[in-house]
Amino acid sequence: MGFVRDLLVFIHLIGMGLLVGMILLQLMAGREAPINKGWLHGSALQLLSGILLMVLAPATDADYNHMKLGIKLVVLVVIGGLAISFMRKESAPKWVAPTLAGLVVLNVGLAVFWN
Ligand code: HEM
Repeated sequence: MGFVRDLLVFIHLIGMGLLVGMILLQLMAGREAPINKGWLHGSALQLLSGILLMVLAPATDADYNHMKLGIKLVVLVVIGGLAISFMRKESAPKWVAPTLAGLVVLNVGLAVFWN
């Protein structure tokens, strides 16, 4: 099961990279540019890999802080919700891209600093 956990952490970190890539892409596209679909794909990857890591914890001998994971889940749902709401619009309000970026950075911070 060690390999499964490593694989899921690998996928989780690739998903994080995708979301960080989205921050840069959105920055280059300009503040009122449409919200890229990649936000949704990155969020879906994080949701799936994160939940699997959590559910498989007893089998992988992992011991996670459930409060932290719950907050990360809520933050991710907000990211996904914003992406779904704005990605089909021709332009997004100025606050959407910086908010998405802030929420991604928040989740990375929670993951790393809250033990
Ligand atoms: C934007 C969304 C997210 C980002 C950027 C993110 C980022 C990260 C990062 C960077 C780590 C590695 C931390 C370390 O090893 O010190 C991590 C670990 C983890 N994340 Fe997330 N995460 C996100 C969402 C979620 C969600 C929604 C869940 C589940 C509810 C979740 C569950 C986990 C778990 C269980 C680990 C520990 C993996 C292990 O070392 O065994 N994550 N996350």
